[in-house]
Amino acid sequence: MIHLHRVSLAYPGTKTLALYDVNLEIRRGEFVFLVGPSGAGKSSLLALILRRLLPTQGAVYVEGTNLRRLRGNRIALYRRQVGVVFQDHRLLPARTVEENLAFVLRVQGVPRRYWAERITRALRTVGLAHKRRAFPHQLSVGEAQRVAVARALLPEPKILLADEPTGNLDRENALAVLELFKLAHAKGATVVFATHAQELVRAYPQRVVALRAGQVVADRRLG
Ligand SMILES: Nc1ncnc2c1ncn2[C@@H]1O[C@H](COP(=O)(O)OP(=O)(O)OP(=O)(O)O)[C@@H](O)[C@H]1O
Ligand SMILES: [Mg+2]
Repeated sequence: MIHLHRVSLAYPGTKTLALYDVNLEIRRGEFVFLVGPSGAGKSSLLALILRRLLPTQGAVYVEGTNLRRLRGNRIALYRRQVGVVFQDHRLLPARTVEENLAFVLRVQGVPRRYWAERITRALRTVGLAHKRRAFPHQLSVGEAQRVAVARALLPEPKILLADEPTGNLDRENALAVLELFKLAHAKGATVVFATHAQELVRAYPQRVVALRAGQVVADRRLG
């Protein structure tokens, strides 16, 4: 499903490689924790899968397509199929929870008559149906992050990327957010989840890929 073939990445104007000769194959429906110290290359690897960056050497394939070959409109179309959650929720501050979700459905071209039902279902999944009219600043950090996950899951993406989505959360909220990713995984999504939290890995023993200084130093299957 996702295949990194001999991928190296140098950011413009830097000498050290952020990723060095990384080979990684992720099968459809796998759940992969990406771990490793700060600066190891986790976010860079996710940016390559999202095609926000292109590798300096090597290639990234998703479902057999070399992402380098995507042009113009097809880059946007590809990204729409990938759900992403970051450490900060990145909700639109001047829009309510339901407007934030509606925004995604509009971009996806979902007919308006389906919006209310889809939004209700998404918010029920994350336990926040009662917050649909709230603005992001009226939510707790944990609630806002659950809305961000609901938004990422709304298009039912086949690939779900998470870059320390629980970094700002306490233990209880972190586990609640992990539960949402587990649900998506159970429904068939391929998940790549970068985290520092060993506790999450223990809570959901799956494949764990460890990076250090831009290289894969361990790849274990716990589940
Ligand atoms: N925009 C950039 N320009 C130049 N170098 C960068 C840029 N972004 C990241 N790097 C470098 O690339 C390397 C990998 O960084 P990356 O952000 O991928 O690490 P990370 O594993 O996500 O770290 P963290 O756990 O702190 O988020 C680091 O050496 C970092 O300094
Ligand atoms: Mg990072």
